[in-house]
Amino acid sequence: MIHKIAPSILAANFANLQKDIEMVNESDADWFHIDIMDGVFVPNISFGFPVMKAIQKYATKPLDVHLMIVNPDQYIQQCADLGAEVITVHYEACTHLHRTLNAIREVGCLAGVAINPHTPVHLLNDVFREIDLICIMSVNPGFGGQSFIENTYMKLQQISQICTVKNHKPFIEVDGGVNLENYQKLLECGADVLVAGSAVFSNPNPKETILALKQ
Ligand code: DX5
Ligand code: ZN
Repeated sequence: MIHKIAPSILAANFANLQKDIEMVNESDADWFHIDIMDGVFVPNISFGFPVMKAIQKYATKPLDVHLMIVNPDQYIQQCADLGAEVITVHYEACTHLHRTLNAIREVGCLAGVAINPHTPVHLLNDVFREIDLICIMSVNPGFGGQSFIENTYMKLQQISQICTVKNHKPFIEVDGGVNLENYQKLLECGADVLVAGSAVFSNPNPKETILALKQ
């Protein structure tokens, strides 16, 4: 499977979101990565559903919604109504993860689960078949522009092994500090969706950067 690129809108220019959304539409990117933060699960607040609605209005590619919030179950239907294709919740924020993942599938979306850098991958073993996307956080969630955590490579390899044992292959996404220096190694270790925020939007040639990440 050719890997996917999901530019993170968190790093876009909020004063002219439409322009950056259109850039992603015209680029070789596959998904829009949308980071929703609540200031409780993570020490930052990004944007909420009114902004997601504005993004949906212009985006012509699937929305990959990353909920960095407590009680994500409350917002699953709203995310689906706003056009989410993937809804990712955090393992660390879900008391009843099995129920939450099934609720995401019930609204017709792909069920994603993100794990923080300190969370071992084997904790997903018992819900593995309920997962359509695993998001390996390669930074501590909450902010763009942080340095990539090298332990991510090992976690990717461990997930690939679990996929083989379980005979189930969710998308394997990496989120945080992805750039032109590390993306190839991430792909070699089994990543198939690369989220990139600052690497794309801080570059003077974002479309060329997306194309480079795609190759
Ligand atoms: C971090 C977010 C990321 C972030 C990535 O909490 O989940 O999606 O936007 O940004 P970069 O690529 O700049 O690390
Ligand atoms: Zn994210």
